[in-house]
Amino acid sequence: MATVELRDIRKTYSDEEIIKGVSLTIHDREFVVFVGPSGCGKSTLLRMIAGLEEITAGELLIDGVRANEKGPAERGLAMVFQSYALYPHMNVYRNMEFSLRLAGMPEAERRQRIADVARILQLEPYLDHKPGQLSGGQRQRVAIGRAIVRNPKVFLFDEPLSNLDAALRGQMRVELATLHRRLGATTIYVTHDQVEAMTMADRIVVLRRGVVEQIGTPLDLYHRPRNLFVAQFMGSPAMNVLPAHIVSVTDRTATVTTGPLTVTVPVHAGSLQPGAAVTLGVRPEHIGLDMAGAPQGLVEISERLGAATLLHVRLSDGRQIVVQTGGDNMNAPDSAVGVTPDPAHCHLFDADGVALDHLAAHPLQVGS
Ligand SMILES: Nc1ncnc2c1ncn2[C@@H]1O[C@H](COP(=O)(O)OP(=O)(O)OP(=O)(O)O)[C@@H](O)[C@H]1O
Ligand SMILES: [Mg+2]
Repeated sequence: MATVELRDIRKTYSDEEIIKGVSLTIHDREFVVFVGPSGCGKSTLLRMIAGLEEITAGELLIDGVRANEKGPAERGLAMVFQSYALYPHMNVYRNMEFSLRLAGMPEAERRQRIADVARILQLEPYLDHKPGQLSGGQRQRVAIGRAIVRNPKVFLFDEPLSNLDAALRGQMRVELATLHRRLGATTIYVTHDQVEAMTMADRIVVLRRGVVEQIGTPLDLYHRPRNLFVAQFMGSPAMNVLPAHIVSVTDRTATVTTGPLTVTVPVHAGSLQPGAAVTLGVRPEHIGLDMAGAPQGLVEISERLGAATLLHVRLSDGRQIVVQTGGDNMNAPDSAVGVTPDPAHCHLFDADGVALDHLAAHPLQVGS
């Protein structure tokens, strides 16, 4: 059992509040990712959980027990940093052994634990190597191994993959997810990379300027972003957002226009009346191409990714949108196209950027 509960946690540095009241419960065995732009307070929050940073106000509970005053070593957590901070003069075995020695663990037990972890992380061939003789991915595995040998209740990761190249990051993502399934340890993982967040998390916590913008499963956030910030932060390529205004409303729909496009979106318009300014959001993968109807824009650039093609289309009002089509799409630059957003996957945001209540079935709710 390992739960972590944050109750209105705050952090102030010289009069400036950096973390402005964060409350959430991380369940036993859950993999929770904190994501958000640089400077939003992810590391500060994680360091407060780890005990490396004092909590200005609020309460931290680990397994239901207040931990604010406990030192890092008493909390039963292990943290893996972006800079692996391995001891350069010690080999892999000694690096992993160090904290166990400090804790006074008998040698036979140390050897057994390190052997187990080296096997899980496929580090057995490198136990005699110094960090300088390892690749970035291997070093990262040693840093993770050093955390695992301590058998912590909770793992804390702060951007552990950001020093690696793209291919290795992809590989390590899968390794970490596999490891989590195997160990089943409660994990809090910080990243500014929304792809890492989407692919690894059970739940994602989106932070901005020290405030939680939304908490949910990856697909909750993807399909039902609560506001424009979350809508644009999650998903790659990013959601298209277009200034629009309401033409008409019913009790179950709002019809909006933006440039050459008119869409009837299944939302509660609330108090919004025809004429009200809104923002229409639609992801590139939720826009179709209509080659038969009247053209609404010109293809400016087509990015061929192989499995998909991203068409950057300049609409007749001058705004640009990105449309994701099949990898074999052959629309050349300057070809005229019609675009058809899928209304069920369109989002409307009011003047404050808050999403209007959506009425289309969440794809995950279908059949459930
Ligand atoms: N020791 C400190 N003293 C004063 N301000 C600090 C201190 N540590 C962090 N900050 C400020 O707190 C804010 C949040 O910093 P933090 O490192 O938590 O951001 P982050 O979300 O981890 O960003 P990044 O993605 O760049 O790592 C920043 O504005 C930073 O300047
Ligand atoms: Mg950080």
